[in-house]
Amino acid sequence: MRICRSISDCRAAVKELRATDKTVAMVPTMGFLHAGHMSLVDTAKAEADHVVVSIFVNPTQFGESADLDAYPRNEERDLDMLREAGVAVVFLPDVTTMYPMGDETIVETTRLANMLHGKVRPGHFRGVTTVVARLFNIVQPDVAVFGEKDYQQLQVIRRMVADLHMPVTIIGAPTVREADGLAMSSRNVRLSSEDRQAALVLSKALAAAEMSTAGATVADLHTVIADTIATEPRATLTGLDIVAAETLNVIEGALTGPTAIMISVAFGDILLIDQRVVTP
Ligand code: PAF
Repeated sequence: MRICRSISDCRAAVKELRATDKTVAMVPTMGFLHAGHMSLVDTAKAEADHVVVSIFVNPTQFGESADLDAYPRNEERDLDMLREAGVAVVFLPDVTTMYPMGDETIVETTRLANMLHGKVRPGHFRGVTTVVARLFNIVQPDVAVFGEKDYQQLQVIRRMVADLHMPVTIIGAPTVREADGLAMSSRNVRLSSEDRQAALVLSKALAAAEMSTAGATVADLHTVIADTIATEPRATLTGLDIVAAETLNVIEGALTGPTAIMISVAFGDILLIDQRVVTP
């Protein structure tokens, strides 16, 4: 496995992978890898001849510097996991490599980035698209894989790629869960044991909503989810969006097609998200 810290080294490594017309799939990450990331790597392996993973904790997508500083990191462990998984190249740039002249040039999906979760975290999706566009320009993958757990992020990236005619196919991979149903996230390790237990309320609320989709209205689903989250005193529901799965347009009344339910729930200062696409 080749580890590249500079853009020129990464480009040379990818060029070698492509030497015999081989295809390249990319998995962009912020490190501190868990089974969820490794399932994205597995999907990438099935989609192309070689896999390139990037590890970069992107400062432009964090609102609070405290959140950026608290973001967990473990480079050595990450590299062991990627080596074991048969990844060909790991791109590990630092902030100066990715943003040598700052972030004057930004990429933003203006509507999708500033609705729903983007309203709660202003600038977050702009930071994501800006860094992913830079990563795509460096690696130039044929395919890139993102988790469905960050559903809005996935739709934002799909739209950026379509609007900017980027020659990369975006694949969404299903959310990987702990045995008890909690969606895997690098933030889970920051939860106290009480909050870790309480966090099961996210998947419970989504399961309850899914059970009641037949003949339901958006208002019914709001009630089911809010009531379920309210059963857990440690949890604060900070976001609940029920939208058309593809456009992310807010819908009202009866469900008529594939619908994405996205929730964010705070446990103290730790925000967890989860999502489910339901079809009535
Ligand atoms: O989902 C993530 O880990 C990040 O938002 C991404 C896509 C790697 C961009 O920094």
